Amino acid sequence: MKIRYTFKNILYNQGQRVSKIMKVFVTRPIPEVGIQLLNDVLSFENIVTAPQDGPLPREALLENIKGVSAVMSMLSDRMDGEAMDAAGPQLKVVANFAVGYDNIDIAAAQARHVHATNTPGVLTEATADLAWTLIMSAARRVGEGERFLRKGLWEGWGPQQLLGVSLYGQTLGIFGMGRIGQAVARRARGFDMNVIYHDAQPLDAAQETALNATRVTKEELLRSADILSIHCPLTPKTRHAFTLAEFRIMKPTAIVVNTARGPVIKEDDLCLALQQGMIFAAGLDVYEKEPKVHEALLHEERAILLPHLGSATIETRNAMARTAAENIIAALSGKCPPNCLSCCL
Ligand code: DGY
Repeated sequence: MKIRYTFKNILYNQGQRVSKIMKVFVTRPIPEVGIQLLNDVLSFENIVTAPQDGPLPREALLENIKGVSAVMSMLSDRMDGEAMDAAGPQLKVVANFAVGYDNIDIAAAQARHVHATNTPGVLTEATADLAWTLIMSAARRVGEGERFLRKGLWEGWGPQQLLGVSLYGQTLGIFGMGRIGQAVARRARGFDMNVIYHDAQPLDAAQETALNATRVTKEELLRSADILSIHCPLTPKTRHAFTLAEFRIMKPTAIVVNTARGPVIKEDDLCLALQQGMIFAAGLDVYEKEPKVHEALLHEERAILLPHLGSATIETRNAMARTAAENIIAALSGKCPPNCLSCCL
């Protein structure tokens, strides 16, 4: 089925169609502030937003990016060479409305002299807050407790009821110590936690001191962490970085939290690890085959499951919309976008 969202009112100048109109396609409705900003430079007639609030089907993406100079893409849009070619040679920028950009083929963008951009920085604190929401919920069996109560099973306080694990003074392990990993570590100070991290890139000494963080091997991280929080990007190297082999090393009281990208964890193995008590609980915001969630996870009491809400605050989504729009405006003005991933060409 072909769905094409038409550009309303193509610009005319004294009856002549203006030849070099730069068109922008936004693949999903975003906060108005981003559209307003684009409109300061372009005009609403040249900015088309997919009308439906849902992931854009591939066919509709390929159809609707034909002839555009800029695409504002979501993490669910695969922006590969095929998509860039469908847009055409006038394509200047693919501006992701996300900090993660595993959906964009950066090499394909470079080969076509297309700027690929993301929205770093603006969602750091919101995502760190959500990681902590999952950490605390998993540790204290919040989902399980709420389900128990709502089902009418609660018969009053019990000395052995729904016992969780303590966080205060425990060891927080962070896999991927970029902006978000560091923001999660900062919050751990309030819990007097010992922080260990694994990252190819060490923090400098001052940062480590400020965060009370020590860099360790992956094996040491697995062995020592009471909480393991994942904050790495998804790359061929980090895909399935956590499988049964890793869960077997962890403490049976440990909690695994993932707010990064689903495929970093092999979900089949995580389900087994939970079922067999290799770890205590898991808190997940992201999934291997989003929006599908592994059937076993849906039935697993010790898994806290959220629908990819890491950056979902009003302030953060407004800031992401602004940042993505600024990247587009810079690229269409012939400048290097502030968050260029494909380097300036
Ligand atoms: C991102 O930005 O990469 C998040 O996963 C969505 O906000």
